[in-house]
Amino acid sequence: MNAAVEVENLVKVYKGGVRAVDGISFSIKEREIFGFLGPNGAGKSTTIKCVIGLLRPTSGTIRVLGADVRRDPGVVKRSIGYAAQETAVDDRLTGWENLYLQGRFYHLSRAEIRRRGEEVLKLFGLWERRNDTADTYSGGMLKRLDIACALIHRPKILFLDEPTLGLDVQTRKTIWEYIEALRAEHEMTIFLTTHYMEEADVLSDRVAIIDRGRIVALDRPGALKAAIGGDLITVRFSSGDGLEPVLAALRDLPGVREVKLAPDGIYRIVVERDGDRLIPRIVRLAGEHGIGIHSIRLKRPTLDDVYLHYTGREIREAEGSREEHIRTRVMSWRIRR
Ligand SMILES: Nc1ncnc2c1ncn2[C@@H]1O[C@H](COP(=O)(O)OP(=O)(O)OP(=O)(O)O)[C@@H](O)[C@H]1O
Ligand SMILES: [Mg+2]
Repeated sequence: MNAAVEVENLVKVYKGGVRAVDGISFSIKEREIFGFLGPNGAGKSTTIKCVIGLLRPTSGTIRVLGADVRRDPGVVKRSIGYAAQETAVDDRLTGWENLYLQGRFYHLSRAEIRRRGEEVLKLFGLWERRNDTADTYSGGMLKRLDIACALIHRPKILFLDEPTLGLDVQTRKTIWEYIEALRAEHEMTIFLTTHYMEEADVLSDRVAIIDRGRIVALDRPGALKAAIGGDLITVRFSSGDGLEPVLAALRDLPGVREVKLAPDGIYRIVVERDGDRLIPRIVRLAGEHGIGIHSIRLKRPTLDDVYLHYTGREIREAEGSREEHIRTRVMSWRIRR
């Protein structure tokens, strides 16, 4: 299968010296959903902007559908759609007018815009509201309209920079469904950035975890999680007495790597995989030895654990600076006015 996007040793140093992207390489296959997961300031938007030709890389090569982005910007522009982190919708215009303008920007005929516009608005559940001005749309509708606008010229590759930023969980899930439908029905290649690990996990065929301008891990979400360790089962027995034979039997179960007692009186059982299947066996084993179980839990590694493993920080922790960052932006905006 051909690569839809190939990036080699991309570096971007902004004027003033910020090294936003520090030598990254990756390739995206056709019809793949490729997720770029990382905290605030990791270099996600900078990477996207370089790949689509909006920003000039400091060094490195980028090919989109085989075309060099610097030498053949026209080919790249025609074959991609881009929904930026900040929506580009004009909220004084209706949904339809926004879409129409975007179509004209790509030199589509009126008939094409009508046909294609109806298709994307229906696909994104906005058809009924097409004649309302966008200032009456909810945050989720605005984002959907923005993505719809990026699709009007039938791009082969769609770039979504934080498609669900700031939206509530329910709305976020709706957008995930639209993104999955795009891939399924239109065989589209999708490159999305996000700092929501669940989003990267659910949507992406492969995920690159990016931190401080570098890719620290890249694989299928399942493989990334499996590589850092298996499932963790925590058990609190109803009594601490007479446990030895139970523990010995637990250690002998297939797939069990380790059984150890934590200071909080809870046993932690690390298993290679399929922790859920082991739970009934553990309960049965304890019962056979006349030991009751107070509580039992299964914890599967998340992409946050993967991020923690490679960077020593949690995404959420690194995100702590994000609120600060947004607050600073709002402040400076207020001061400027
Ligand atoms: N135009 C610019 N000039 C100078 N520095 C910039 C510019 N744009 C971004 N940066 C810096 O480059 C780094 C990476 O920024 P980028 O916007 O690519 O990160 P991001 O991963 O998209 O973050 P976020 O989650 O906040 O969108 C940050 O340190 C940022 O402050
Ligand atoms: Mg960004």
